[in-house]
Amino acid sequence: MTRKIAAGNWKMNGLRASVEEARAIASGADGCTVVICPPATLLVPMSALGVALGGQYCHASTSGAHTGDISAPMLADAGATWCITGHSERRADHGESDADVRAQTEAAWSVGLTAILCLGETLAQREAGETLDVLRSQMDGSLPSGATPDNTVIAYEPVWAIGTGKVATPDQVAEVHDALRARVGPGFSLLYGGSVKAGNAADLFALDNVDGALVGGASLAAADFLPIVKALA
Ligand code: G3P
Repeated sequence: MTRKIAAGNWKMNGLRASVEEARAIASGADGCTVVICPPATLLVPMSALGVALGGQYCHASTSGAHTGDISAPMLADAGATWCITGHSERRADHGESDADVRAQTEAAWSVGLTAILCLGETLAQREAGETLDVLRSQMDGSLPSGATPDNTVIAYEPVWAIGTGKVATPDQVAEVHDALRARVGPGFSLLYGGSVKAGNAADLFALDNVDGALVGGASLAAADFLPIVKALA
């Protein structure tokens, strides 16, 4: 059995006033696992809301001279039980390689965080017919050998669908998720991410190998996120 998971990636959005929005999400979340990944500054203020929390990234080291960074033990200490790794914005903005993502995923595991490991192709790669090869290579490079359905969830996020309003079609998602399922086997939850909204969530969740979503913009407000949670539950 895979877990049904609706995860919200708040990215670099949210101030202390946003805790009330998370409270509304927490109180309406039912029927599936709901995870909010707020900015690290909001983990402690959100830690008593009764909703699972995740970091958006963690350094591969547990501590040290890494100005501006955050470690997996710090996330756990602040109340997180999950951590996104390998998001395409981190790969692009911070030059994170597959090897970096692999090490960060292992760091997340080392303190008991469940990793949400992100993969995805660019538009140029899709148009060149390279999507499955790119994902295979990202899996080879960034998924550590100790991955289990308990410590890792895979999120397919086509880069061209993130924040663009261009959601991948059910056929495109099914092709990738079926390939991912063949690769990882049963039990692993496979999430889709990229312009998921209340209006398209049900069609995506109806696909055999889609076990939930990693949602950006539509996870910031309970009014947008809870209908997605409901479509999954
Ligand atoms: O990690 C979630 C994300 O990259 C998708 O963002 O805004 O397209 O839902 P969005």
